[in-house]
Amino acid sequence: MGQNTISFDEKEKIFLLSTEDTSYMMGFSPEGFLGHIYYGKKVNHVGGQRLLHGAVNNEVWRYRDGITYRSIFPYEYPTGGVGDFRNSCLEIENESGQNTCELVYESHRIFEGVPELPGLPHAFRGKDMINTLEITLADKVLDIKVQLFYSVFEKENVITRSARITNCGKEKLIITRAMSASFDMDDRDYEMLSLHGSWGSERRIQRKKLAFGSQMVSSKRGVTSHMHSPFMAVVSSGADQDMGDVYGMSLVYSGNFQAEVYKEMIGNIRMITGINPDTFKWHLEPGATFVTPEADLTFSAEGIGKMTRNYHDFYRNHIIRSPYKEKERPVLLNNWEATYMDFDADKLYAIAKKASECGVEMFVMDDGWFGKRDSDNSGLGDWIVNEKKLGCSLKELVDKVKNLGMKFGIWFEPEMISEDSDLYRAHPDYAIRVKGRKGTLGREQMVLDYSRKEVRDTIYKMMYDVIKNAGIDYVKWDMNRYLTDLGSAELPADRQGELSHRFMLGVYELQDRLITDFPELLLENCSSGGGRFDAGMIYYSPQIWCSDDTDAIERLHIQEGTALFLPMSTMGAHISKCPNEQVGRNTPIETRCNVALAGTFGYELNIDELSEEEKSAVPRHIERYKKYHGLVSNGDYYRLNSWNDKKSFDMWENVSKDSKEALVTYIQVLCHPGVEGSRVMLKGLDPHARYELEEVTGHSSYKKGQFFWGDELMNIGLWIPQLRDFESCLYHFIKSE
Ligand code: DGJ
Repeated sequence: MGQNTISFDEKEKIFLLSTEDTSYMMGFSPEGFLGHIYYGKKVNHVGGQRLLHGAVNNEVWRYRDGITYRSIFPYEYPTGGVGDFRNSCLEIENESGQNTCELVYESHRIFEGVPELPGLPHAFRGKDMINTLEITLADKVLDIKVQLFYSVFEKENVITRSARITNCGKEKLIITRAMSASFDMDDRDYEMLSLHGSWGSERRIQRKKLAFGSQMVSSKRGVTSHMHSPFMAVVSSGADQDMGDVYGMSLVYSGNFQAEVYKEMIGNIRMITGINPDTFKWHLEPGATFVTPEADLTFSAEGIGKMTRNYHDFYRNHIIRSPYKEKERPVLLNNWEATYMDFDADKLYAIAKKASECGVEMFVMDDGWFGKRDSDNSGLGDWIVNEKKLGCSLKELVDKVKNLGMKFGIWFEPEMISEDSDLYRAHPDYAIRVKGRKGTLGREQMVLDYSRKEVRDTIYKMMYDVIKNAGIDYVKWDMNRYLTDLGSAELPADRQGELSHRFMLGVYELQDRLITDFPELLLENCSSGGGRFDAGMIYYSPQIWCSDDTDAIERLHIQEGTALFLPMSTMGAHISKCPNEQVGRNTPIETRCNVALAGTFGYELNIDELSEEEKSAVPRHIERYKKYHGLVSNGDYYRLNSWNDKKSFDMWENVSKDSKEALVTYIQVLCHPGVEGSRVMLKGLDPHARYELEEVTGHSSYKKGQFFWGDELMNIGLWIPQLRDFESCLYHFIKSE
């Protein structure tokens, strides 16, 4: 594995990167521009390939019309100011304030391993041998070098890209744009697939035909945001879960980003992603280096489903580092929707006790335990236990809960500061703010200037003491407002434009410190629900709270969109009470359970407030989670039907890697009269094996213990009777020997 994934044909001057099912090819122009030749289905024989577009190889064009030539050249790392008018990857201003850059090939090397991206989340080698191609390009006038890295993850069909820009000269340079990756191809009637949303309604799938001009998802909110995700795909028209060409691009970054597809002229398109240049500027002193975040590329010739599985495997094997990634996550109960900030230790203990009697393994104390924090307008930044409110020390409460046999988790919002806090009274300059302006508040709070080490250290010391002294097992790291009024009291005037990225690097540094100092700690990220759910955050926390909308039916959209590119094991999903707090809907507890089983299972309620019937279901549901968690977390995910497509039901399947086991989840949304049911083809099974229906929950046409052939289930399908509104059914198949 990994031996011959990268080659260079000296004669043809072609780089060929190969994964199990894909090929990626690049070549040079006579001037030494690095250009894209091909990305797609695996090509095993390469003859005299040329760079994209005949015109690029036309001598007359090249010499007589340099602008047209450059404006169609399929640059691997396009630069601004010299004739490529599409969005570029790199723009640099020199000391005279002029902005042009032209990169020419200098050298390359192939090495075993992956590049280090200091301070940034990035793919690691894991158990496999991974090769990386490093191509060095240079602009002799600016005196810069740009190293492009391409690491090939053969098994997962992923190629990661990043760039390192070094100022080798004597001039002070300003980077005004430094994207992570781009590549050009011909448009073949493609469509763009991306994720959009809002608070409580994150990551809804959007698909639209590519138009001429720019189509983009982006964030300037300081986090990747509820509105857009740093992921996009270009798919052939009509591509579905199983068929069609799909190009995915996911940025391993959690701050301001841009992901764009640009279509121009003769129908050539450019996919490009990286840090959002609108809120970015970076001073590159002589000798200094800037490193871009990593972009993860994948291609599938077998539809969207295969792209999803490529990403799931890749993120599980090469991005998520937590020791919990393969371990069973404790079933937790979080008190937020049960009490909000109105609690003391006795109330929390009573909730924890009832939960532990039902089999819950960890109690999480959410917002409201510190400083002066009874409402959301005060206390942030004062990470000191409010013993008066609790009625005891935190250690006493933790010990009592631990005596029940439970673990104990706690909520922090480390990036924030309230105006009404001791921290702000002592250090108003710690807040991000523009001199002379009061600043816009979000949830009545401000953001801490994490570009400053002193600020990070102050917060970390408080967090460390709480976690260490009380013996905390889990931290929910929340972040509840966007960044505005970008001003740092410490950064010099010419570096203020660096604040957003420096803030992000500060967040990463602090999360890294936390999991390094507490290697057994389970960290869950959160941002007003799922406002920062991206491939960057899962490098630090193996799970992220998916959304503040806990309604099981709303969650179907949200979880489908999230699982489009991120593993199910990362999705924080809990059962909450009914009528649901956000939408007022009543959903059977069975369905709330079956939807939560698709992620990291838990509760967001006081079990004592459930009906007797619901209460009695809790131990059974926990048992169900324990039975299926490994399969859902580590297996292959197949989307069988989507409520998103205006269908009346949602359905997915998790199949173990050895095809010995499959769990099928069917959720009826709205039922319609006159519809008996649907026949649905299963996927990923062994066609020649017999499968036993080992368990079936809910109303079904089949009985436990019934046998089916794999090819029968995949070709003739499973007959699912229509259920009543919001009812659901699980089918568990096991291969019989
Ligand atoms: C937003 C989170 O998404 C909620 O789960 C909860 O932790 C609140 N913040 C607490 O303020």
